[in-house]
Amino acid sequence: MTDDTVPTDQPALLRGPGRDSSTQDGRVRDGSALRRPLAGGAGELWTTDRSGGAGIVAGAHGGHLSEVTVPGEVEARLQAEPDPTDLRTLLDAVVARASARYAAAVVVDTAGWRDGDRRVLEDAGFTGGDARGAALRVRDLRTAADGTPTRVLDAPALASLNGAHARFAERRGEVARYRTDVSVWTGVPRPPSPQDWQDVRSLLGPGAVLGIGTDVELPAGWTPAGPDGGVQLTGEAVEGVADPEVLELGPDDVDEAVALVERTRPGPFLPRTIELGRYLGIRCGGRLVAMAGERLHPPGWTEISAVCTDEEHRGQGLGRRLVLAVAHGVRERGETPMLHAASTNTGAIRLYEQLGFRRRDRGSTRFVRVP
Ligand SMILES: CC(C)(COP(=O)(O)OP(=O)(O)OC[C@H]1O[C@@H](n2cnc3c(N)ncnc32)[C@H](O)[C@@H]1OP(=O)(O)O)[C@@H](O)C(=O)NCCC(=O)NCCS
Repeated sequence: MTDDTVPTDQPALLRGPGRDSSTQDGRVRDGSALRRPLAGGAGELWTTDRSGGAGIVAGAHGGHLSEVTVPGEVEARLQAEPDPTDLRTLLDAVVARASARYAAAVVVDTAGWRDGDRRVLEDAGFTGGDARGAALRVRDLRTAADGTPTRVLDAPALASLNGAHARFAERRGEVARYRTDVSVWTGVPRPPSPQDWQDVRSLLGPGAVLGIGTDVELPAGWTPAGPDGGVQLTGEAVEGVADPEVLELGPDDVDEAVALVERTRPGPFLPRTIELGRYLGIRCGGRLVAMAGERLHPPGWTEISAVCTDEEHRGQGLGRRLVLAVAHGVRERGETPMLHAASTNTGAIRLYEQLGFRRRDRGSTRFVRVP
């Protein structure tokens, strides 16, 4: 991790005065915190190299809010009672940051808040309690502009790296990529700011290739890496099917999995990719002949990836069984399966569509080369 590493997670949780759960486990407020100013004089951002610890402190006259990341959640607490205008400014700053990071939600625990402050929250788009408590107010950030709950899929790698996969991230500013032995994905805010493009360049280096949403305008000097791109498919209608005959793959299977991927070329499968989720395989005569597993993990979704079957075993339904078995595990966690495929891979896309996956046009990417 570097000084500008900002591991964060979702949802962001704002706590009322007097609540200080972040210090209960001693994980966050320690001497290793690294401080730097926030843009626009909004306060300061501090991070810590302890596991999962990070935060923003947005200051304003009369009080400030701090966000503190604990694994799985960002907590932010109202540390003094600001006047309502300042509170609104702080809330908007936290929502904007959480939104730019593709967090699932900002959650506010209003226990101990004044009634007037609760009204400010409602004006800022927060709605009433959920299963976790009547004092909670939630601002859901998953909803896309078209009203579907898929916004986090606009930047699925960023949403993963700022959430469930924060431990695999290498960061520069708001840009993050997976460690290079884990995955090739880079997460970039959408649309990228001029600073984000610079950060991509310094993080990946000239000549590197990354996928970018097809609607994103490239700055001068950045060029498409080829005519083809990627498509995204979502499986809202895919329930999955448990398959007692498929095997869960573990670290001992990685060499064979890498060899299978080299023979079948579904996309990159690296030495540590298996750590991203659950990988399933089918053996024939002891040899691994087909596999599929979980890769990106934006909030509420899991990407099914590395779907491949050895040439001589194709057309027997192994690919179908494995995709459905992985999807079943995803569903059991209450999540929805999704997929990416090269736009030219019409055979695989046809299989996924037969299984009920549907193309999501906003998820289409093109490959771009870093100048
Ligand atoms: C895509 C891939 C995984 C499919 O694997 P598979 O095990 O052959 O998949 P299935 O057998 O379940 O289905 C493939 C096709 O065979 C058909 N099929 C399924 N069961 C069948 C059976 N018992 N007999 C004959 N055909 C069958 C399916 O309907 C499907 O038909 P389609 O060609 O019209 O789409 C395989 O072709 C592959 O490894 N490709 C290279 C890697 C790759 O591109 N992976 C996808 C990355 S996104």
